[in-house]
Amino acid sequence: NNLTLGIIKPDAVRQGKIGLILQRIIDRGFNIRAMKLIRMTREEAEGFYAVHRERPFFGELTAFMSSGPCVVMVLEKEDAVRAWRDLMGATDPAKAAEGTIRKEFGSSVGENAVHGSDSDENAAIEIAYFFSRLEMV
Ligand code: GTP
Ligand code: MG
Repeated sequence: NNLTLGIIKPDAVRQGKIGLILQRIIDRGFNIRAMKLIRMTREEAEGFYAVHRERPFFGELTAFMSSGPCVVMVLEKEDAVRAWRDLMGATDPAKAAEGTIRKEFGSSVGENAVHGSDSDENAAIEIAYFFSRLEMV
């Protein structure tokens, strides 16, 4: 599949990194098919991360994701899920490779600057969670 969902998380938005992260995405050859700035409610963040409901960090994660605005976007590229995860880097910024977004802009495993879908199946679910057909260009 060629689509994935990306999020610029509240930590990166607060630090004024939206522009730099978008430039990385464009430079890597992604086509931005949809994009908006949103502020999730706690309930909306819980719905988005429902798969992590049982994890010990679920409360912290959903509080953080609803703590401020984030940029949600649909990214298009060949093998999009993997290509975007490669550009993001490892979940823990301390372990992320040089040149990745999380290495440069992440501060901790919780506040790690960006999100990306982990499979084509979840990409379709996550895209539909935020975007209607009319919002896709
Ligand atoms: P996403 O692209 O955000 O899904 O990251 P990931 O797929 O690399 O990680 P995973 O799906 O395992 O975890 C989802 C998100 O939960 C991560 O991006 C982190 O923001 C957060 N997270 C994971 N582990 C921890 C943790 O130990 N503590 C906290 N506070 N957050 C965590
Ligand atoms: Mg994940």
